[in-house]
Amino acid sequence: MGTLRFLTSGESHGRGLVTVVEGLPAGLPVPAERLKRELERRRQGYGRGGRMKIEKDQLTIWGGVWNGKTTGAPCGITIENSEWEAWRSSMDPQSCDPEAVKEKSIYCPRPGHADLPGGLKYGHENMRPVLERASARITASWAAAGALAKLLIESLGIQVRSAVTNIGGVSVKAPSTEEEWEAASNSSMGCVLQSDEERLKERIEEAMKVGDSLGGTFVVSVKGLPPGIGSYVEWDRRLDGKIAGALMAIPGIKGVEIGEGFRLANAPGSQAHDGIFIDEKGMFKRRTNHAGGIEGGMTNGEEVVVRAAMKPIPTLTKPLPSVRMDTMKASFAHRERSDVCAVPSARIVAEAMLSWVIAEAVMEQFGGDTLEEVKERFSSYVNRVRRRGNEKA
Ligand SMILES: Cc1cc2nc3c(=O)[nH]c(=O)nc-3n(C[C@H](O)[C@H](O)[C@H](O)COP(=O)(O)O)c2cc1C
Repeated sequence: MGTLRFLTSGESHGRGLVTVVEGLPAGLPVPAERLKRELERRRQGYGRGGRMKIEKDQLTIWGGVWNGKTTGAPCGITIENSEWEAWRSSMDPQSCDPEAVKEKSIYCPRPGHADLPGGLKYGHENMRPVLERASARITASWAAAGALAKLLIESLGIQVRSAVTNIGGVSVKAPSTEEEWEAASNSSMGCVLQSDEERLKERIEEAMKVGDSLGGTFVVSVKGLPPGIGSYVEWDRRLDGKIAGALMAIPGIKGVEIGEGFRLANAPGSQAHDGIFIDEKGMFKRRTNHAGGIEGGMTNGEEVVVRAAMKPIPTLTKPLPSVRMDTMKASFAHRERSDVCAVPSARIVAEAMLSWVIAEAVMEQFGGDTLEEVKERFSSYVNRVRRRGNEKA
């Protein structure tokens, strides 16, 4: 068994979110506190909307975990909406009050959001159901599924971390040492330096004052992967494709780069590729990592480095021109309570999605019914690829 999958249900202002994760091996320790901490990290950052202050992510594990460990059964998680009572009359799937529904109706699509194409696609003149599901609130579910994946890969010595590198044109120091990665991971803004945190907050405040929103860039790193995870044999088994797909699926992400992706387009080959040597322990190594740890759709044993670009938040306090879907008259886009900038939060979602893709690839390659089996297969593979470098050294 090597298929890991997850499905979600729930609306942004509904009763809550449901996540079902299937395919985790039995015996994986799942501390509920760790899942809660990952959800809490997703809520952090400056420039988040009022909702983040009012609401708490109330996480409950419904099944698949017993006595602190996975059982092999699907793992069900709910994240309740603590504001549900205020929304119940307009959002209850079993009985809505028509007056409350009317009051929460939305007819002016926001440029940059799912409102217009989603409304046209599913035939919703009132776009409330579109924005309820297209909302990035669902990424709380992804963070929960990703936290389980993270626990699985961490048990194999694989570490996923992230840092913010730019918000609204203000660039900040990217981590390079272990301590810097640690600092950025624990910072609510994803920064290595406190002074950079302040600079980013100032930039966000500037945007807030003029009713605007901001995007930015971040970097995600995976350490501890042996060479050969993923495959070159078919397009849909290439790890770089899966990583790009998973990160690009995060709402607002418009660019994904592996290693020095775009810069390499301008460099000659002699300066783009990472020369190979055997280190003192007999291991294959690279002096540079322009490739970002992936060659031929597989890990090459170096740190996996992925960068992503997020566009500015579409909901604006000073809205852009739009058209009313009920009257077809010119108007201005709808204003929903909104974040001004969600880059620090998006990078946590990216950690979750990258963990998910790595866990999927690991389960496909070394899958077993118990964590012990997965660990045994993984370590026997690691020993085999390590031995290869040592053979003739
Ligand atoms: C963590 C996170 C929080 C977000 N918060 C908001 C928000 O409060 N308001 C908003 O309009 N968009 C927000 N977005 C972005 C939209 O969800 C996204 O732009 C929209 O779904 C359209 O999808 P697309 O940008 O991928 O085309 C957020 C995205 C993420 C990842």
